[in-house]
Amino acid sequence: MKKPPANQSAQWSSKWAFILAATGAAVGLGNIWRFPYLMGNHGGSGFLFLYLLFLCLLGLPILTAELLIGREARTNAIDAMSQLAVRHQRSRHWRVVSLLGAVALLLILSFYSVVSGWSIAYLYHALSVGFHGQGPSQIQQTWQQLIASPGQLLIWHSVFMLLTIGVILLGVQKGLERATKIMMPALYIILTLLVFIAIHIGQLKPALHYLFDFHRDNITMHTAASALGQAFFTLAVGAGAMLTYGAYAPKDVPIPFSVGVIAVLGVIVALLAGLAIFPLVFQFHLTAQAGPSLMFITLPTAFAHIPGGNLVAALFFLLLLFAAWTSSINLAEPLVYALIDKCRLSRTVAAWVVGLAAWALGIGSLLSFNLWQHLTFFNHTLFELNANIATNVILPVGGLGYALFAGWVLPKRVTQQQVRSAVYPFWRFVTRYIVPIGILYVLFYGMLSK
Ligand code: TRP
Repeated sequence: MKKPPANQSAQWSSKWAFILAATGAAVGLGNIWRFPYLMGNHGGSGFLFLYLLFLCLLGLPILTAELLIGREARTNAIDAMSQLAVRHQRSRHWRVVSLLGAVALLLILSFYSVVSGWSIAYLYHALSVGFHGQGPSQIQQTWQQLIASPGQLLIWHSVFMLLTIGVILLGVQKGLERATKIMMPALYIILTLLVFIAIHIGQLKPALHYLFDFHRDNITMHTAASALGQAFFTLAVGAGAMLTYGAYAPKDVPIPFSVGVIAVLGVIVALLAGLAIFPLVFQFHLTAQAGPSLMFITLPTAFAHIPGGNLVAALFFLLLLFAAWTSSINLAEPLVYALIDKCRLSRTVAAWVVGLAAWALGIGSLLSFNLWQHLTFFNHTLFELNANIATNVILPVGGLGYALFAGWVLPKRVTQQQVRSAVYPFWRFVTRYIVPIGILYVLFYGMLSK
């Protein structure tokens, strides 16, 4: 007999509630903040091309695999694979993949909270000082001041972590479902508005060339390795987080359809973010390779130029915060659920344990922008190291594990019955052959190219 999830409070009330939550998990800082800056670092279109390729070819089959493993096992992400493996007379060592995923979630949550803290800081700035009428140097200065101050960063990081723990304590259904219904559409509206503003005051043409012109020399193994990690990061796959949401999913959720919705909505947000940012980069001669600061420098430049800019800014950072929040919940919930299930902790204790651990780890990332700026390993600060290892190495390896498990370990009738769709044969073929080969190829040559 399948047992129901241990924490009933985290069951989705309906099919659409599940799709909404999974989309909320996928759409976040990865699409709005990380995607444009990585594209800038890697010179534009080549990154976009590889990102979309890996997302469709490797990410979507793995997302399908995770959701079906979750719904079949109906248990926490640590035990799901080993329980299914035992049920089908296979090795329980598949657990290693799950443990690796848990490590990735903790690492990602730790720096995610730091960056989300920046959004809160900017929301506060928009409401207090404002951006209206500020010149480029003032905007630079706002960023520099924030990033140079461990105290401020710590406050905003802590506030965000408390927000995350708060929702986890309440359980997923209360509040979150209802709020997501309003905030997600609002995010699309404001991003579209920002694109129009960027087109109006910026230079659309060079931005379009930068984003969409195909240059072969733009496609390198180094870019591929980073695009692979980014594809998995935005889809929230490779760490058992979507598996956990799948474990809460009602039976009538059509997995391939949900996967499609999640992917399309995520890609739209990423493209809108790119179109809102790059016209400004070209107009104001900002550096596309600015790294993590890119969004925090370019968008305020737009806010400074338009009437009502402070209001638009406040609204944008509020919605960004919300998008980050629904993602951080997805990062934390699998760990909390696993602790509740395995260690028999109460939801309250488990939420605090996970929150405090990620918070403490996050301090390393936060200090790497100031006091520990010069503490580098192989030329990477702690923040970069944390983000790169978790995203570009652990997520792909985890994704490989889920694909192999769903493609080769679970019997065909089991996966077929979960996927229940005309795309099933195609999914099975890609998951068994293309995904493993693709991931191993990019990981191997990506490492060599560093
Ligand atoms: N997808 C989210 C974003 O793009 C981040 C995220 C949420 C995530 N849950 C995850 C990344 C699980 C990896 C694994 O912002």
